[in-house]
Amino acid sequence: MTTPHKADLFAPGHIGAIPVANRIAMAPLTRSRADMEGVPSPFAAEYYHQRASAGLIVAEATNISRAGRGYALTPGIYEGAHVAGWAEVTKAVHEAGGRIVLQLWHVGRISHVSLQEKGVAPVAPSAIQAGGTVFTLEGMLQPSMPRALALEEIPALIEDYRRAARNALKAGFDGVEVHIANGYLLEQFLRDSTNKRTDRYGGSIQNRARLPIEVVTAVAEIWGADRVGVRLSPLSTAIGDTPLDSTPQATYGYLARELGKLGLAWLHAIEGQTRGDNAAGAFDFKALHAAFGGSYIANNSYDRGMALKAVASGHADMVSFGRPFIGNPDLVERLRREAPLTEAPAAAYYGGGAEGYIDFPALETV
Ligand SMILES: Cc1cc2nc3c(=O)[nH]c(=O)nc-3n(C[C@H](O)[C@H](O)[C@H](O)COP(=O)(O)O)c2cc1C
Repeated sequence: MTTPHKADLFAPGHIGAIPVANRIAMAPLTRSRADMEGVPSPFAAEYYHQRASAGLIVAEATNISRAGRGYALTPGIYEGAHVAGWAEVTKAVHEAGGRIVLQLWHVGRISHVSLQEKGVAPVAPSAIQAGGTVFTLEGMLQPSMPRALALEEIPALIEDYRRAARNALKAGFDGVEVHIANGYLLEQFLRDSTNKRTDRYGGSIQNRARLPIEVVTAVAEIWGADRVGVRLSPLSTAIGDTPLDSTPQATYGYLARELGKLGLAWLHAIEGQTRGDNAAGAFDFKALHAAFGGSYIANNSYDRGMALKAVASGHADMVSFGRPFIGNPDLVERLRREAPLTEAPAAAYYGGGAEGYIDFPALETV
């Protein structure tokens, strides 16, 4: 797809090298149903299979390393057992004719010592403690004080992303999305509110964008850039009470332009405060899309009418839905028919087993 590209929400197309049956994507949704070793839930294959009519599934954020974990019961992609678990998922989605990419995640400072190996401090660009809470086996706790990554540790961190990307390939995914959003590690490097480094990874916009660009470059070497996307959230502060960057338009615009030069498949933007109003706040997402120059997936509190308009006008190549996909496995068909949507209770979002996960019926059996 080139930009701007006016299309129908239900028409097939391509995002990078990935053919999509329609322009409706499933946004990544952490459901906290993996085991403590990070092996995906035995119900995950069925869960994603049920949702395979989405043009593209962006599977839930998945830890690239043990140190990258910030929430109990989230899946990993750094060990053989993780690859085997995810291979079941990709097989099930492909059998249903769907496409699925994995979101590569390192939480940085949004973690707790109880989730880290030997109880060590989580790592971050700078030793600044996050607010908010993370889900631990001891309950919801404030993230622990992080330790600033040493310059010499950065190559090994990039290597962790590279291994995760390679594992995702082995697991049969169609591509990967690098998580640079929602206040996690790579966005902690990007924002001047969380990055106070004085080395080549801190200070100027170019320096703060360096790690995200190096990570994406490494991942693209494994996958080919046309199967790699990124997720950005220039206006989100919700997770970890993470303050905004002081010049979001310049910072994210620079990053988008540099990523665009790599020929990436998509930029997935959370327009506004994640789960808040769409595009509330002062940020020009059209300029972000233009700076990137490739396919653009729009997200955040979209409804049917907004999605139709976004794709028809060329604002977006795809629109992703998060919460609506929890209660509506056949969301695409419901949007097509203008059928009513089921609202999943928030209590079903995180944790548990099959209940609230694979028991939301499709339209025919409602
Ligand atoms: C239960 C839940 C889990 C989420 N997990 C992730 C995640 O793993 N990665 C991510 O980038 N965003 C995550 N998000 C944010 C969603 O992808 C999406 O941006 C947000 O829900 C807004 O889209 P919506 O209005 O269509 O739900 C999560 C949201 C919810 C409600």
